[in-house]
Amino acid sequence: MSGNDQRAHAPTPTAADARGEASAPAKIDFDDYSQDYDALLHESTKLYAEDSEYFARYKVDLVKKAARGPVRRVLEYGCGTGRNIGYLQEAFPDAQIMGTDVSEASLAIAAQNNRSAGFELEQEGLELAAFDLIFVASVFHHIPPAERAGVMGTLARRLAPAGSIDVFEHNPFNPVTRRIVSNCPFDADAVLLKPVELRGLFRDAGLQVQQQSYCLFVPPRLGWLLPLEKYMRWLPLGGQYWISAGQSR
Ligand SMILES: C[S@@+](CC[C@H](N)C(=O)[O-])C[C@H]1O[C@@H](n2cnc3c(N)ncnc32)[C@H](O)[C@@H]1O
Repeated sequence: MSGNDQRAHAPTPTAADARGEASAPAKIDFDDYSQDYDALLHESTKLYAEDSEYFARYKVDLVKKAARGPVRRVLEYGCGTGRNIGYLQEAFPDAQIMGTDVSEASLAIAAQNNRSAGFELEQEGLELAAFDLIFVASVFHHIPPAERAGVMGTLARRLAPAGSIDVFEHNPFNPVTRRIVSNCPFDADAVLLKPVELRGLFRDAGLQVQQQSYCLFVPPRLGWLLPLEKYMRWLPLGGQYWISAGQSR
């Protein structure tokens, strides 16, 4: 992608910009990126992983290994074009899998590629029965900070008593991650959050953090080093981090 293409995706300047005031970045509409999402993701991350499916497999695998009780209903919140859905179905073959998103065009692609899962548009008043696992990958940094607590509250209400919410987010401490985000057109509205903010959102929604790990340290071409990642989970240098939380017991 050329520099000009990237500028074409930059948010339109607002009146606040003209006055030199800081303003929130314009919200990205993923309908505009649904057709090109895979190609843009590949372009942004190819130096780390040539196969961008790697990220979906990696995250679902972590969550599967951490699952404590039976998983009968799974929600992927902000599922986009459904890149994680097939892996969730594979990891939890007996579970009913559902994906939701605010982007109708992305959901249409997700539904086309994942016939056995259910999909719903996220909108005011959407009520869903309780889930044993709620999987959220790379979504919160697209939600304006003032709206994040409300979203977490919605997720907490959709959680079964023994279930868990597993959130993956870009690690703002990692300079490579920050560079990837700043060059990726659909990340133009990204406001990265530190683990401390995400833990606070869980806490304020009445949930207890059960685990926090940094992840995605080792590029897949150095797969023989992957077993070392389990000793590095405390090190704030992974490409992303993962926090899992559930109802306080
Ligand atoms: C970077 S994509 C990630 C998609 C998917 N989770 C994945 O890992 O491939 C972010 C997604 O979050 C969705 N999104 C943004 N704000 C949202 C909100 N408030 N509620 C639900 N989904 C949202 C976008 O429409 C987009 O599909």
